[in-house]
Formats: sequence, structure tokens, C-alpha cells
Amino acid sequence: MYFIMDFVTIQDRLFCNDSELCTQEKIRTIVYDVPQRVSLVAALRIRDVIQQKQREGKACVLGLATGSTPCKVYAILCEMHVRGELSFRNVHTFNLDEYYPMQKTSQQSYYQFMHTHLFSQVDIPQENIHIPDGECRFEDVQEYCQHYDQQIALLGGIDLQLLGIGKTGHIGFNEPGSQADSTTRMIYLDKITKADAASDFYNVHHVPRKAITMGVGSILGAKRILILAFGEGKAGIVRTSIEGPVTSQVPASYLQGHPDCTFFLDTASCASLTRFSCPWTIKG
Ligand code: PGA
Repeated sequence: MYFIMDFVTIQDRLFCNDSELCTQEKIRTIVYDVPQRVSLVAALRIRDVIQQKQREGKACVLGLATGSTPCKVYAILCEMHVRGELSFRNVHTFNLDEYYPMQKTSQQSYYQFMHTHLFSQVDIPQENIHIPDGECRFEDVQEYCQHYDQQIALLGGIDLQLLGIGKTGHIGFNEPGSQADSTTRMIYLDKITKADAASDFYNVHHVPRKAITMGVGSILGAKRILILAFGEGKAGIVRTSIEGPVTSQVPASYLQGHPDCTFFLDTASCASLTRFSCPWTIKG
């Protein structure tokens, strides 16, 4: 147990793009000093939407991400549950992606990741958990993917989508070239994505070439989106996504068109934004 909440507060928001320095930023962007604080803010927003839905007697549909970025968010949510402050009884989850092919029992599977970091530690009903099935027969994948999007729609859509961002600008595994209206589908992974995953698989040649991913359109259908990025390695793609043109070459740039999307950054991942890297170029 991390007990992150004991030493992190949310009093210290450093920057928000509500000033004249931020005219080039096309997505609401909030910066905190360290990833722990960003994670606490994200966890509190997730808690609030779950509890709001509980008060209304309704199900809460969460879109969830894997990777290193959301780990602390999940640790904090588990901590809230252990403290008796948060129940997941009304929560339905849809994960963004899974490698293909991938056995659920494999230590690299996102199925294992989610059960280790969240599901095994909270009271979510097993039948409410949805993770793209890396064991699906190849000939059934297309139908399976359509059914995945239908299940989301049947529950009324995603209330809150949590996202990370890959160095290619992918959200989920929607690699460059993905269309704005793409739905859940099989996709080939970009070379950079495979290189980033190589250490998990002990060798880049062991990284699966394909994955099943929720589409860009499936993601943009969420009512609210929180996208998190940490570390200087993400600074370049963060800037391109927030300040650059909307293009299929940077799938995260599609988030510029979403009515309720917020980027949460630490001080390292925000460093290339114009307001920090060269504020003197901004017209007053
Ligand atoms: P990361 O991956 O959280 O491990 O940096 C993010 C992503 O690829 O979407």
C-alpha cells in the first residue's frame, strides 16, 4: 500500500492555460510539479464521477488506460477503497487496448496489468470489467471489436476516459494514420511503440506486432477525457498535440476537438510548450 494521499495535496497547481501566454494551446492544460500530485488530481476526478453516479443511482462507465502513466492513479483509487471511502460496485470499465495475440495469463498482458494494479484490489463486479481480448480467434476479431463498441454504447457511453500518450502521439494504440472516426479494431504497432515496449518483453523482437485498440472515434465519444503525461521524454509530443495542427499523423491532436478534455502534466512534460520554452515569441 502506497498511502500516497498522506503526503500529497492538491494545493499546488503550478500553471493553467488561462492566461494570455497560452493562446497557442488548443487543449485545456494544467501543470503540477510532480506526477504524484497529477495522479492525485486525476484520482479525485474519477472518484467524484463514480460517487456522483452513485448518488443518482446510475452505473458509471470508465475508459481505462495501461502503461506506466496511470499506475499511481490506480494506487490512489485502491487506497481510497481500502480506506472505505470509495466503492466500485456501480462501475463498468472498458480498457483501451491489448496486445494481439496475447494470453490473459501472460505477465505482459494488459489483462494482468489491470488485475494487478486495480481490479484485484477493489470491489468491482467481475462481469463489469471489459478488456480487449488478446485470445480472440483471428477470424472473430472484427465482430468482437464491433461488439466492444456496442457494449459501450449500450451502457450510455463512457463517462470519463483516462488516457496516456505514446511517443508517436498515439492514444490507446491508435498509431499515426488513424482516422478521427475509427472504431475499435486490430492495428499494427508503430516501430517506436515496439521499441518503447521492448524492456517489458526482454527484446524488441518479442513485442507483438499487433494489438486491438479502441478507435479514436470510440475515445472521442467519451463525455470527459483526462490525458496525463509525465517526464521529459513526452515533452515534444505533448507540445505537438496541444499546439500543432489536428492531423492523423498525431492522433492525440484529435483531442483538440473534444468539448471536455484536459491535459494534466508535470513540470518535465510541459517544458516544450511555447509559454515555457520561448514565451517571448508570444504576442501580448
Ligand atoms: P506510458 O505509455 O504510460 O508507459 O508512457 C503511454 C502510452 O503509450 O499510451
